[in-house]
Amino acid sequence: MRLCVNIDHFATLREARGGWEPDPVTAAQICELHGAEGIVCHLREDRRHINDRDLRLLRDSVKTKLDLEMAITDEILQIAVETLPELVTFVPEKRKELTTESGLDVLHQGEKIAQAVRMMHDHDIEVSLFVDPIDEQIEASAEAGADLIELHTGEFANARSEEELVEQLERIKKAAAYGHTLGLGVNAGHGLNYINIKYIRAIREIEEVSIGHALVARAVFVGLPKAVEDLIALLRGGFS
Ligand code: PXP
Repeated sequence: MRLCVNIDHFATLREARGGWEPDPVTAAQICELHGAEGIVCHLREDRRHINDRDLRLLRDSVKTKLDLEMAITDEILQIAVETLPELVTFVPEKRKELTTESGLDVLHQGEKIAQAVRMMHDHDIEVSLFVDPIDEQIEASAEAGADLIELHTGEFANARSEEELVEQLERIKKAAAYGHTLGLGVNAGHGLNYINIKYIRAIREIEEVSIGHALVARAVFVGLPKAVEDLIALLRGGFS
């Protein structure tokens, strides 16, 4: 299972003072040096963390894979085709949310999403759709022409009891198997950390995880190289 690091939180910390440090571009380079196999950033419409300059420099410097998380708007679609990341991940975006709260409703926006997928494919950009682990949303993702889905693991990560955890994990396992059956690549992300990753890494169909907050939080205490290396070691811990 590959680790892709979401570097938005480095930019959030920078924006807390409106200055230049820490630079998320430097963070991306350190993550790659220590084994991350992809860098994820979300260029939000309100540019609350990652900005256009970051994306430009990331495009020039990321050597593994750049995954641009984005809402489907004319402005950001245009930026995507100018920037040419290897992958875009379409997510829903609400101004007032602290972070991406739910998966895309592909079922009810199929045509709009399919059009955006075609636009990306015309520029040889792969497309992943961030969806909740719900069969209908996964089917709609395949119908919209997506290459991959990223399963939203937020409800699993927020489980408050053993029973709820088992139930949410089961949903993710079934969704991953279903996506795989439909020919989709399967990634996962949101709320994953050094503790709950042991459950996710055991799901064979999940090829890649996108992790941000937990990694940045740990880096504050142990340093970024160790935070990345420890997470990769956990991902490679084999199947439990
Ligand atoms: N995947 C998607 C689609 C996200 O929106 C986010 C949050 O930016 C993540 C993964 C990473 O989540 P976390 O910061 O909780 O690890």
